[in-house]
Amino acid sequence: MPDEPGEAPGAAEAPPGERPRIRVDHPAVDPTSGDAIDGVALLTLDRPEALNALDTQTMLELVEALEGLDTDETCRCVVITGAGERAFAAGADIKEMAEATPVSLTVANSFARWERIRRVRVPIIAAVRGFALGGGCELAMACDMIVAADDAVFGQPEIRIGVIPGAGGTQRLTRALGKAKAMEVILTGRNLPALEAAEHGLITRLVTREQTLPEALRLAAEIAALPPLAVRAAKESVNRAFELSLEAGLEFEPATSSFSSAARTRRRACAPSWRSVRPTGRGAEVDGRHPHGNERRRPDHHARPARRAQRLRPSHEG
Ligand code: CAA
Repeated sequence: MPDEPGEAPGAAEAPPGERPRIRVDHPAVDPTSGDAIDGVALLTLDRPEALNALDTQTMLELVEALEGLDTDETCRCVVITGAGERAFAAGADIKEMAEATPVSLTVANSFARWERIRRVRVPIIAAVRGFALGGGCELAMACDMIVAADDAVFGQPEIRIGVIPGAGGTQRLTRALGKAKAMEVILTGRNLPALEAAEHGLITRLVTREQTLPEALRLAAEIAALPPLAVRAAKESVNRAFELSLEAGLEFEPATSSFSSAARTRRRACAPSWRSVRPTGRGAEVDGRHPHGNERRRPDHHARPARRAQRLRPSHEG
C-alpha cells in the first residue's frame, strides 16, 4: 500500500537521534519461557513518557510496520501493546493536536492511516493494560480482538476537549456496546473500566495485568498455528458481519468460503474422521499419519525440536 499523499517514502523512519516509536519483535518472544513464538509478531507502542500517545510519527511507524507484516508470509498474527506500566495509548497526541488546524488536518489526511490499518488482513490482537483512551481506544477497537487487564480503562474523552472521536470511535464503540451505553460513554467522555467494557462485549478476554501480554501472545500463537488462508478469510467474513447488512454478509460468506476451501490444508483437513485431525505445521494430520491414508508425511527439513512441534513452518499455503 503506498504512503498517503504528503507522506514521503520512508517517512516512518524515526527522526535522526530519536528512537523508533514502534518496537517490532518478529517473532515475538514468550515472556514466561523466553521462547520465540513462530508466526507471531509483537508491536509495542514505545512512548511511555507520553503514555504512548499516538503522534504522527507513531502512527506512521505503526501503519508501516503493520503493512510490512501483512505481506510477510512468516507473520500469521500480530499483537499490539503499549510500553510501560500505565497505558496502552492515551489517545492522539494532544500537544500535536493543539497546533493542528482544519486545513492542516485535511492536507495531512491523517485519518487515511486508520483506513490502512483497517485493510490489514492478518489478525491483530490488542493487549491492553492501563489507559486506552481516545485514539488509543479506537486503536484497540480497530484490532480484531482485545485482551485486557482488569485494571484497563477504556474511553472516548474527546468531548471534554471540544472534539469528537475521529478514528472510528463513534462507530465501533456503538457497534460493540450498543447505542444506549455508547451514547453515555461518548457524550459524557467518562472512562469505561475494563470489567464494565467486558460486560458489554468490548473485550475478548479479561485477565490480570501480569497475564495480559502472555495471554494475548498465547491466543495469537493458537491462531498462527491454523491454516492462514482460512484465518484471513474468516477475519474478513466476520468483519463483513460487523459492517454489512445480514443479507449482504450472507452473500459474501459463500464466496470467501469457496475460495478458502480450495486451499491444500483444507483438503487435507477434511479427513475421514475430522475429530482426530490435529493441526500441524503443514496443515493437518490424523493420528500422526497423513489424513488421506496410511502414508507418513514427507520428511520435514524444517522440523524443529519436539518442544516446538506444534509450531508452524510459515507459508501462505492455505
Ligand atoms: N497526548 C500527549 N501527551 C499525553 C497524552 C496525550 N493524549 N496523554 C498523556 N500525555 C502525557 C502528559 O502530557 C504527561 O507528560 P508530561 O509529564 O511531559 O506533561 C504524561 O503523558 C503523563 O500524563 P499525566 O501526567 O497527565 O498522567 P495522569 O496520571 O495525571 O493522567 C490521563 C493520565 C488521565 C490519561 C491523562 O494523561 C489524560 O487525560 N490524557 C489525555 C487523554 C485524552 O484526552 N485522550 C484523547 C485525546 S484526543 C484523541 O484521541 C483524538 C481523536 O480521536 C480524534
